[in-house]
Amino acid sequence: MMVCEYKPGLDGIPAAQSSISNVDGQKGILEYRGIRIEELAEKSTFLETAYLLIWGELPTSNELAAFEDEVHSHRRIKYHICDMMKCFPESGHPMDALQASAAALGLFYSRRDLNNPAYIRDAVVRLIAKIPTMVAAFQLMRNGNDAIRPHADLDYSGNFLYMLNEKEPDPLAARIFDICLILHAEHTMNASTFSARVTASTLTDPYAVVASAVGTLGGPLHGGANEEVIEMLEEIGSVENVRPYIEDRLERKAKIMGFGHRVYKVKDPRATILQNLAEQLFTKFGHDKYYDIAVEMERVVQEKLSHKGIYPNVDFYSGLVYRKLGIPTDLFTPIFAIARVAGWLAHWKEQLEENRIFRPTQVYDGKHDVSYTPIDQR
Ligand code: ACO
Repeated sequence: MMVCEYKPGLDGIPAAQSSISNVDGQKGILEYRGIRIEELAEKSTFLETAYLLIWGELPTSNELAAFEDEVHSHRRIKYHICDMMKCFPESGHPMDALQASAAALGLFYSRRDLNNPAYIRDAVVRLIAKIPTMVAAFQLMRNGNDAIRPHADLDYSGNFLYMLNEKEPDPLAARIFDICLILHAEHTMNASTFSARVTASTLTDPYAVVASAVGTLGGPLHGGANEEVIEMLEEIGSVENVRPYIEDRLERKAKIMGFGHRVYKVKDPRATILQNLAEQLFTKFGHDKYYDIAVEMERVVQEKLSHKGIYPNVDFYSGLVYRKLGIPTDLFTPIFAIARVAGWLAHWKEQLEENRIFRPTQVYDGKHDVSYTPIDQR
């Protein structure tokens, strides 16, 4: 048998052959199905991008209208799911509530017919439609309120902001939120996508696939950095404190949140787009002093760390955008999940098309031929 070198974290080892997305970390390029992220952010919508990721081609106008109609008509969640969510502790993290609710969908839609394209489409529609409703419902319920019904006249993102804040959003805010979902919809073989593919490879149901990916995204090394960026900006407090803060952290060899990426060695293209969106929001709804602190941080980090390829990543400006949209900090990662469900489902479908169950090997470094010691002699 061939002896392979063990690579912690499978660093650099291909786990799948995929045509869904591509990153060029040296040039700062991200493409979904070959289309640059900048073009999708400018011209597409989240639902159209989800369709592109999952079915591989941009939809025609009829296909898009049919998909939007289906998603919009499945946005409600069953009373039983609401009742279940009301029993969740209000102090629980919204990511844990989302993982439990996503898994529970599998109880309500338990048929498993993975060779049937109609079943695949149904599951895609239900998950994309219901995940935002469940995030908004938990937010209202943990504050002692009942969840509100989806608004029939609002599009996907506008309706999510409506369900969250109980009022119709400004159209610019809704469009900017929709672009944020496009930016976070997919990003090659990251930890949660890998988790989704491993779960999919057992031929379990798609609700279990999404629930396992949500659980993986929840960890602070993956989805949680944008929460920490906001905490860091609040701690710094003023533009004058930026340089001493950065110098102190570098002296202590501590990482600066929102900077650096395993793949990108230039500024993450999503960070550039998010910075522009933040500026649009501040122009319309009033300035945020934390933005000045962020811009100064980018300047000082570039001065000190650009030789190591350390630049802002997707998490650096996204928190500032969500804050201006009035979204509570602990919903930042669930919102990441609302977007990434499109990528996970694209990978679920791709995995099923040429499935082989994941069964990696290990390098055993334990003992051999140890005899059993009776309990009274240990
Ligand atoms: N601040 C200061 N120095 C940094 C940072 C940072 N944020 N990131 C990397 N470096 C330095 C390292 O100290 C190291 O320096 P050295 O060569 O002198 O030892 C060098 O740059 C390379 O860093 P690695 O840790 O090897 O880079 P890696 O690719 O393993 O890590 C990671 C990438 C985890 C994202 C890292 O940059 C980091 O921890 N950043 C802060 C957390 C963060 O923003 N995470 C969100 C990432 S985006 C996402 O997951 C959606």
